[in-house]
Amino acid sequence: MGNYRQIMEMERVTKVAVLGAGNMGHGIAEVVAIAGFTVVMRDITEELVQKGYEGIVWSLNKLVEKGQISEKKSKETLDRITTVVTIEGAVSDADIIIEAIPERMELKKEVYKEVEKYLPDRAVVLSNTSSLSITELSEVIGCPDRFCGLHFFNPPIKMPLIEVISGDHTSKETFEFATQFAKKIGKFPVSVYKDSPGFIVNRILTPLLNEAAWIVYEKRGKIQEIESSAKYGLGLPMGAFELSDQVGIDVAVHVLEYLRERLGEEYGPCPLLVEKVDEGNVGRKVGKLRSPRRRGGGRSRGGS
Ligand code: 3HC
Repeated sequence: MGNYRQIMEMERVTKVAVLGAGNMGHGIAEVVAIAGFTVVMRDITEELVQKGYEGIVWSLNKLVEKGQISEKKSKETLDRITTVVTIEGAVSDADIIIEAIPERMELKKEVYKEVEKYLPDRAVVLSNTSSLSITELSEVIGCPDRFCGLHFFNPPIKMPLIEVISGDHTSKETFEFATQFAKKIGKFPVSVYKDSPGFIVNRILTPLLNEAAWIVYEKRGKIQEIESSAKYGLGLPMGAFELSDQVGIDVAVHVLEYLRERLGEEYGPCPLLVEKVDEGNVGRKVGKLRSPRRRGGGRSRGGS
C-alpha cells in the first residue's frame, strides 16, 4: 500500500501547505498560522492568493479590534504565512498538506496528481472536502494510507468543530495524527469512521438549506419567516438563507448535486439555488447580493 512510512510526531511538524486561498482555504491558513505553524498558502493566480491573504489580514484585524488576540500575535501570525502560485512551491517541503480547493471531484483529482509529484515521503495529506468520497480522492495519490478528511466549517476561525473522516485506505496512524492536529490548532474534532456523502454535518445541513429554498420556491413561506423560524424556533445561530449566503450557495449546490448523484433524486438542489449559482450570485464572498432573477418554467423537484 503506497510508500507508507512512520508518520512523524506532531511536535516535529513545522510547515503546513494550504491549497486554495478561497473562503475556506484562507480561513484554514489563518487558524493553522495562529496555532504557531509556518504556512504556505497556494492558489492558481497571484490575484487569488493575494485576495485570500487580504482576507486573513481583515480577519486578524477584526480579532484585534474585538480584543480576541493581541496586535503582537496578529503580526506574528502574518509573518508565518507566505503565498505561492505553484503546487511545487507549496508542497515540496511541507509536513502536512491541506487541500481546500473547489468542491469538484475531477478538479481535486487533477490537483492531487500534481501534488503526488512533489509530495515528501513524510507528509500527510488532508482534504477539506465538504462531502466527496475520501476513499476515491485518496486513490489518486500513491500513499492513500496517509490521506484523511479534515473538514472545517465556515468561518474556520470562529467555528470550533472539525470532522475527521477516515477513507477505506486511511491508516489508524493517519487518522490519529489528523485528530491530534485538529486539537493542536484549537479545534474540537469529531470522528467520522464511515466515508459517506456529506459525512455528518452536510448530510444534515445542506438538506435543511435546500428545504428552506423549496419553501420559498413553492411560495409556501417568505424568507423573513423562514429566517425567524430557523433562529428562534430551531435555535440556529443564523437563518437558513443567511447561512447559505455565508457558506456560499455554490458550495451548497455542489454538495447537494453530489448527494443526489450518490443518494437519490430527493437531494437535488432547489432551482432557486441553482439559479443564483448560474447568475454568479453565490453569496457574501462575491459582494452584495442582487435580487433573484426568476426564469420561466424552472425545474421540477428532483429533476436535473
Ligand atoms: N474573522 C474575524 N471576525 C469575523 C469573521 C472572521 N472570519 N467572520 C465574522 N467575523 C466578525 C463579524 O464581522 C462581526 O464583527 P462586527 O460585530 O464588527 O460586525 C463579528 O465577527 C460577529 O461576532 P458576534 O460576536 O456577533 O458573533 P459570533 O462571533 O458569536 O458568531 C458566527 C459568529 C460564529 C459566524 C455565528 O454567527 C455562527 O455560528 N454562525 C453559523 C455559522 C455556521 O453554521 N457555519 C457552518 C456552516 S457549514 C460549513 O461551513 C460546511 C461547508 O462544508 C458547507
